[in-house]
Amino acid sequence: MGGWSSEREVSLMSGAGVATALESLGHKVTRIDMDRNIAARLTEAKPDLVFNALHGSPGEDGTVQGMMDLMGLRYTHSGLATSVIAIDKVLTKHALVPAGVPMPGGRIVRTEELFERDPLPRPYVLKPVSEGSSVGVAIVTDDSNYGNPIAQASKGPWQEFDELLAEPFIRGRELTTAVLGDRALGVTELKPKSGFYDYDSKYTDGLTEHVCPADIPDDIAQACMAYAVTAHRVLGCKGASRTDFRWDDERGIDGLFVLETNTQPGMTPLSLVPEQARHVGMSYEALVGWIVEEAMR
Ligand code: DAL
Ligand code: MG
Repeated sequence: MGGWSSEREVSLMSGAGVATALESLGHKVTRIDMDRNIAARLTEAKPDLVFNALHGSPGEDGTVQGMMDLMGLRYTHSGLATSVIAIDKVLTKHALVPAGVPMPGGRIVRTEELFERDPLPRPYVLKPVSEGSSVGVAIVTDDSNYGNPIAQASKGPWQEFDELLAEPFIRGRELTTAVLGDRALGVTELKPKSGFYDYDSKYTDGLTEHVCPADIPDDIAQACMAYAVTAHRVLGCKGASRTDFRWDDERGIDGLFVLETNTQPGMTPLSLVPEQARHVGMSYEALVGWIVEEAMR
């Protein structure tokens, strides 16, 4: 848990929850806040299994997975190749669109180009290619009253990114589906009070209403679950994953788009995979237990 990505705090919350659950399941747990000596610390801990509760790089991008492969360690969630692809929103499109999963088009722009012109007709979304939790994401609307998109972005460490992904903004609704193995658990709709499901809306209790199961037509719910399972399979995910959607409810099924698949989905008290698991009768402890069993198989 922990590490040095922009999602460090989220990971510490995921790790704390998971560690407590593992102990209540009778496992002996060593909590490791990841630093650059992680290999030495894992060698010392001699784990039967590493429960990966990291988010972002390098714990979700294949780096830590490759290291553990070399060390001969078993670990939870997805492996090296899957992690490399799924952390990258452009590579994910290359993998999923040919498999029939609808995703928004988009283009990579050099951050400095944004001072000169809009990369797409407004409204559009600017996002880092390989971040999580909406870190660095901005929605650029028609009526944004500013000279350039970077100046408008109130949040986000823009200076850190040489390039960004620009995608058309999909009006409408925010949906998500958890997958355990080959089973989609359901669909949750996120209704952030601010209208934008950003970092604060994700992790501050009370800022977002979670509607689980989502109040949406059955064909949309079935499509979300089918696309999430396809994404999990095509990307080669292991254990738990979570696929996020935008749905333009004025366009019916043609308005449904996958944004991305998360291979290290959050396990905090407000997180969505535990919530969907609960909804199908699986407690947080049972979910953690299932992830462990799946990794030991
Ligand atoms: N990136 C965060 C942790 C999530 O997908 O839940
Ligand atoms: Mg993500």
